[in-house]
Amino acid sequence: MDDLKSKYLTQIADAADEASLEDIRIAAVGKKGEVALKMRELGKMTAEERQVAGPALNALKSEINSALAAKKAALADAALDERLRSEWLDVTLPTRTQRRGTIHPISQVTEEVTAIFAEMGFSVAEGPRIDTDWYNFDALNIPGHHPARAEMDTFYMHRAEGDNRPPHVLRTHTSPVQIRSMEATGAPTRIICPGGVYRADYDQTHTPMFHQVEGLAIDRDISMANLKWVLEEFVKSYFEVDGVDLRFRASHFPFTEPSAEVDIRCSWEGGTLKVGEGDDWLEILGSGMVHPKVLEAGGIDPTEWQGFAFGMGIDRIAMLKYGVPDLRAFFDSDLRWLRHYGFAALDVPTLHGGLSR
Ligand code: DAH
Repeated sequence: MDDLKSKYLTQIADAADEASLEDIRIAAVGKKGEVALKMRELGKMTAEERQVAGPALNALKSEINSALAAKKAALADAALDERLRSEWLDVTLPTRTQRRGTIHPISQVTEEVTAIFAEMGFSVAEGPRIDTDWYNFDALNIPGHHPARAEMDTFYMHRAEGDNRPPHVLRTHTSPVQIRSMEATGAPTRIICPGGVYRADYDQTHTPMFHQVEGLAIDRDISMANLKWVLEEFVKSYFEVDGVDLRFRASHFPFTEPSAEVDIRCSWEGGTLKVGEGDDWLEILGSGMVHPKVLEAGGIDPTEWQGFAFGMGIDRIAMLKYGVPDLRAFFDSDLRWLRHYGFAALDVPTLHGGLSR
């Protein structure tokens, strides 16, 4: 037993890493290790012999175990010391003077919009950019023959012959997230969903990928008046002006009844856009009271609940606020453009700090 003890204690002391320590543990006190083999021999001993050998073997086992634990801790300490020696950082070095990356205006505006709606109790919901045509169309009361289905210039995902899964599309708007969040949380609910959407379209004000923010508020007694107030508050905060005139124009969307498009008063005098004054109107969003069929598709009882929804173009309001004349520039990744229109990385928009400063 003394031989065993000095053999293993020496091996443990000499072990260079955790792997060899583990090998020693298995050979010494593992299930089939030397100590276990010795313990098996206890059965063949006389009762007197066993009274001496039993406790001695147990003591040997626990001595080896504590030597193993102590060595393991020492190895870990040494490894940490080594890391601390090699991974140091001189925090007194000067920072890089040249600004490197910037926050893209779309990201900045998304943060601004989120900050404003968060203040009004809306949380952020997300949905997949590739969705089934049921979520993108049918659940939103746009059946197969409906002209809106063709108007949306939908990108359909390729389907191999014999594939019977439901057709998938690149979502043409953020409205399918209305259905997904109704399914997820039921009523009441108050969400916005900012995100990318896709349509086959390309000119100065259209790109095949662009961004929308969807809004949805459902409760027992929500009305158009609530929609109007929320949108007015939003526009005032977002454009950082005290007063704005909004014009609600009767319109039609399959997923709302009644529906309204909203314009905001502005002027283009001298070629620059001013929001809140002048004689021009600019359309910024579509909205309305959620259609009962849409509530039903989302699993919400339309005889108990009602609500409003809206969908706004993020790129559109970014162009307006920051004076970007061509939408395509947002997605060209031209470094000069990004440096000019980008935002400093640490200027996170908040209502109290000022949104765009
Ligand atoms: N989904 C519409 C579009 O992409 C925008 C929209 C209109 C969304 C009215 C809404 C709404 O939630 O109520 O053109």
